[in-house]
Amino acid sequence: MTALPTYEQKDQTVTFHYPDHDLQLTVLTPAIVRVFEYRGNNGASYAIEGNKQTATDFKLTDTGDHYELTTSALTIDLDAERHVDVYDTNGNALVTDFRGERTLLDKGVDKVHQRLVEAEGHSVTKSTVKANASYYEVVKTLAPDEHLYGLGDKTGYLDKRGFEYDNWNVDNPSPQLEILPNIYKSIPVMLGLKNGHPYGLFFDNTYKSHFDMGKESDHYYFYSAVDGNLDYYIIGGQSLKDVVTNYTYLTGRTPLPQKWTLGYQQSRWGYSASEDEVQEIADNMKKNDLPCDAIHFDVDYMRGYRVFTWDKAKYADPKKFVSSLKGQGIKVIPIIDPGVKQDPDYDKYAEGIKNNYFVKTPAGKVYINKVWPGDSAFPDFGRPDVRKWWANNNKFLTDMGVGGVWIDMNEPATFEGEIPDDVVFNDQDTPSTHKKMHNVYGHNMAKATYTGLKAQQGKRPYVITRAAYAGTQKYSTVWTGDNRSMWPHIQMMIPQLCNLGLSGFSFVGTDIGGFASDTSAELLTRWIEAAIFSPLLRNHAAMGTRHQEPWSFGEPTLSIYRKYLKLRYRFIPYLYDLFAQESTNGLPVMRPLVLNYPEDTRVRDLDDEFMVGDNVLVAPIVQKSKLNRTVYLPAGNWIDFWNNREYPGNQDILVDAPLDKLPLFIKKDTLLPWGQEVSHVAETPDTTMTFKAFGQNASYEHYQDNGSDFNYEDGEFNRYLVTVKDGDVNVTLTHSGFKPVYQTITVDLPAKSVTLTYDAANQSYRA
Ligand code: GLC
Repeated sequence: MTALPTYEQKDQTVTFHYPDHDLQLTVLTPAIVRVFEYRGNNGASYAIEGNKQTATDFKLTDTGDHYELTTSALTIDLDAERHVDVYDTNGNALVTDFRGERTLLDKGVDKVHQRLVEAEGHSVTKSTVKANASYYEVVKTLAPDEHLYGLGDKTGYLDKRGFEYDNWNVDNPSPQLEILPNIYKSIPVMLGLKNGHPYGLFFDNTYKSHFDMGKESDHYYFYSAVDGNLDYYIIGGQSLKDVVTNYTYLTGRTPLPQKWTLGYQQSRWGYSASEDEVQEIADNMKKNDLPCDAIHFDVDYMRGYRVFTWDKAKYADPKKFVSSLKGQGIKVIPIIDPGVKQDPDYDKYAEGIKNNYFVKTPAGKVYINKVWPGDSAFPDFGRPDVRKWWANNNKFLTDMGVGGVWIDMNEPATFEGEIPDDVVFNDQDTPSTHKKMHNVYGHNMAKATYTGLKAQQGKRPYVITRAAYAGTQKYSTVWTGDNRSMWPHIQMMIPQLCNLGLSGFSFVGTDIGGFASDTSAELLTRWIEAAIFSPLLRNHAAMGTRHQEPWSFGEPTLSIYRKYLKLRYRFIPYLYDLFAQESTNGLPVMRPLVLNYPEDTRVRDLDDEFMVGDNVLVAPIVQKSKLNRTVYLPAGNWIDFWNNREYPGNQDILVDAPLDKLPLFIKKDTLLPWGQEVSHVAETPDTTMTFKAFGQNASYEHYQDNGSDFNYEDGEFNRYLVTVKDGDVNVTLTHSGFKPVYQTITVDLPAKSVTLTYDAANQSYRA
């Protein structure tokens, strides 16, 4: 038997001296342990900021056969062959190295046949992660009963088992079907339920990498990377929720957004080419009694696609126009791409050249590729000074009065082939390569944009990005990029947004109605129903496609669309409460049932239902021509939102769903804050609040602040504990720091309505 390696312990890090390479285990918290092997890569993590290590007791034992490192949450065994095996406190295996024979997936075709396949126009979809000298793999055992989640925005289903994915941010125009290995984001965190026991693994490596989630073999899954250190975090927890909380402790949480960002947003590539067209959209929203909080300005508002310009030929006075829209309750969200047009007479390009802000070829020339403006240079966002420059550039937009900034094409996308691996990108201030910095390009652009907006607006920045890496959730909302107006994409919205949520991204959304291709009245209707709880609520479409504004198809689409937008605004206080919770526990707003009911085997691969918080269950129609569906209700009793009918859980029920109905269930004994019917999220604080009771017994904690800036960090917020017991209502202000507190609070019970009034002298509520 090979001898166990010697080791050294320094604080919470143990370095094991294996013959080939050292392997380090670092205990960050009882439930987070880092596994690290230096493979020549320097530089700090982009996902993890600050020191996340807390003083944690752990024990290291030499059992003779292996080392055993034990914290209060995890046990990690290391043997002489470098196998890393992780168990929970009850000895249940969570993550164990695979020891059997690999059965390589033979996807090869010989050259002749490959040519034949390609002659008919097919491309063989396959991973582009290739083995080379620095390549490595981590292979873990897969149990027959094991479900795998996470990985950010990947296409396909909730349970990722049986599929393979690449981590390399791309702007791939192909329809985003389950066979696509990668799209815009690389969020290399996976969560598992092994025999029902939860764990997480986060591979912090920005190089191109790959997850085979048990496609090659049913006996193992593996992670591989073309380069970089072996650097992964084992994340434990009592429940899947704990794993998400621990992972977001490590990489950060979506901060509390401005409240109005939860309102409806209308967009289309092309609108912003004309002031009149934008105004017409705003007018139509109003005329049709459709609540709306923002209109997005796509690339057309710029002068020749030059970022941080506004075309004066199209807009007489952009600032005045932005302000006039604001007066109408509509914020403007302009798009910004990273590509800076190569034009010596354009100030941003000239500044970038003068200060060396752009990425360069290995020979030292500014690297140029084509994007919307034609030949463009690419800011080197890995560098702090370039991020600072970019942050300041946003002043042009914030001075105009914009509500936020939408950042796009930041994979980065390039029209004339991918940027070669060896193009020089800096890793902070150290020269590095595109190969290493590609996957964090969007992340660093988002961080720069967030920093600029925060300084310039003093409000909670509203940034929406397409490309991201783990940790980007601290800086930006994300949307899932260019989907299509087709039924498989409304279907995919649910697992895709749920997996983003499990991967730390709570503020997420899809292009409602579908971006590319032509939508239909039915698809648009079902999409607004299905998306009404998606935190980012934006209808966006590509130029040249059929119009898909709420009124584009006439009736009944318009009325149904209106009904759901109004419902959304009623739910905004609930969504805002969920964000207030999320900012401290990392639990997503929109979540798969498995997060709330991990013990229920029925929900572990449920793709067509989701929950909003703990007590709202949504089962949209995501198939063409369907007018009813089965809905699986987990444990508990459930109330049909539309008719108050009660159903016991743990069963499938058949629900009628004519075109205007979104099947929606509220868990019995739930209180929901019920927002006012408004056309825009109010800038002035509400002075009254209503709660809807589903049942006679419930309690709910509601959060209130000014919905806009960072004063809440200094205690300027209120918390209300609302309790209903056998129909009696009680309200307690458990934290007060924000004025005004609600003057009245009304609770609508099934058979009566109770209003309590604030007694300022006693800081209490009475009937
Ligand atoms: C990209 C974006 C899309 C945008 C278009 C034009 O395709 O994903 O949302 O409309 O570029 O800027």
